Amino acid sequence: MDFDKEKAIALLNKIMELELAGVVRYTHYSLMVYGYNRIPVVEWLKKEAEEGLLHAHKAGELVTFLGGYPSLSIGPLLETHHHDIGDILRESLAHEGEASAAYYQLLELTQGKSVILEDYARTLIVEEEMHADEVNKMLRRTGKTGVYEPSK
Ligand SMILES: [Fe+2]
Ligand SMILES: [Fe+2]
Repeated sequence: MDFDKEKAIALLNKIMELELAGVVRYTHYSLMVYGYNRIPVVEWLKKEAEEGLLHAHKAGELVTFLGGYPSLSIGPLLETHHHDIGDILRESLAHEGEASAAYYQLLELTQGKSVILEDYARTLIVEEEMHADEVNKMLRRTGKTGVYEPSK
């Protein structure tokens, strides 16, 4: 293997921690949504939590594929303690961006050097960017074009 294996293990563990933080975060959010939009939004948040767990499993599987020790921690849990759906979605967008960035780092480290890790990183980047796009579209207003830009 022609890449820094220890770095790859560290990145995969970071991904695993981020994904597990996502599980906790989306589960929490799914219990904090009230009002007219509650049912579809709760469904969507629960689906995100489940997908985070699948992603954490995949990352852990690759940590052990490389002979590493899978992390027992979870990533930081940013929480504004505002539970307006808009706040939840903005936090979700930030989280999806962080996950994408970690997968991009893994891609950079392994591209052209490991088919399995490169393919994994690309596939997950596509999934995370699709998630971010779903969230972005929920943050837009009907009748307006253009991508939602976070103000911070
Ligand atoms: Fe994910
Ligand atoms: Fe995601």
